[in-house]
Amino acid sequence: DAGKGAYDHYMLKEIHSQPTALSNTIEGRIQDGEVTFEALPAGTFEGIETVQFVACGTSYHAAMYGGQLLRAADIRTEVVRASEYESASGPVDETTLVVAVTQSGETADTLDALRTGADHGARTLAVTNVVGSTAAREADEAVYIRAGPEVGVAATKTYSSQAVSLALLTQRLADDVAHATPADDRAEMLDTLADLPDHLEQILEQNAAETLAQETIDSESYFFIGNGLGHSVALEGALKFKEITYEHAEGFASGQLKHGPLALVTENSPVIAVSTGGDDEKTKTNALEAQSRGAPIVAIGPDDTPLTDIADTHLSIPETHPVWGGLLANVQLQLFAYHAAKQLDRPIDKPRNLAKSVTVE
Ligand code: G6P
Repeated sequence: DAGKGAYDHYMLKEIHSQPTALSNTIEGRIQDGEVTFEALPAGTFEGIETVQFVACGTSYHAAMYGGQLLRAADIRTEVVRASEYESASGPVDETTLVVAVTQSGETADTLDALRTGADHGARTLAVTNVVGSTAAREADEAVYIRAGPEVGVAATKTYSSQAVSLALLTQRLADDVAHATPADDRAEMLDTLADLPDHLEQILEQNAAETLAQETIDSESYFFIGNGLGHSVALEGALKFKEITYEHAEGFASGQLKHGPLALVTENSPVIAVSTGGDDEKTKTNALEAQSRGAPIVAIGPDDTPLTDIADTHLSIPETHPVWGGLLANVQLQLFAYHAAKQLDRPIDKPRNLAKSVTVE
């Protein structure tokens, strides 16, 4: 327990260590406005046509985030739940890059997908936190996210460091892949990244998430919605919340709420609407549908998101480049889940039935 320092739980300590973890993730990887990874010299990805991400749990949500950025760079991308790789992935050959996103580097489903891809001739890359892990050893190349050891079963800082690593990897891939289009505002995106640790500090100084947890603690269900880059953030928010509170929480793409889940929405089910600073009209329209059924609406996003026009509560994130807004929103969601679980007196660092790393398929 000494490792927790002044914090009640490892999870809270790890949430608060994200500014430092992210500084380490970024360190030395942006030089003269270009993204560089020591293990991936120029030309490493020449000949790649398709990128397939394979991952589980929180890492899957980071992979979704990265996958969307790759698609924006015009690179054919699939994001596959590792346990479904054989049935859900498209064709695999030597023009395919299989990227295993795995904090531990030991998740059995993810390793199995990585091996299956390699068996079909794909090139492989591990994006992992653990040097010398099985994924790092077996993949052709490894990118380390450098988040430092994570003890809490619920992944927090490793998600943020994975998402940033994948955003940087996107720019690196875009330089090598023939038909790709690197971001035309790359310089601005990378400049803003340098401010991300400070922006995280600003969120960690707030107590809005704790207040929200107190106000909503008697709810029946919690629904998280977001579109675009906010979709995966909404899924991650719901996963974190259910993992440590044991409350019913579900995440959806904003536009999907009306295709079924709306039947469960009542005045006792807050809808947490995520904005990453992009186009929020879809999220707003769908949040309004929930509001007209009596649901309290919580907006998480920058102060100028149109979601604040309708929200009962707003958890603010600093202005940043839209690529990084989801990471900031996610930290508010981590704090919301943590404080709700604390009020419910759950064993936050070791939730029942869950393991930090699942080494069986
Ligand atoms: C388990 C953990 C999750 C984690 C997932 C993938 O389910 O409880 O927190 O996201 O495994 O782990 P990995 O080490 O592959 O990122």
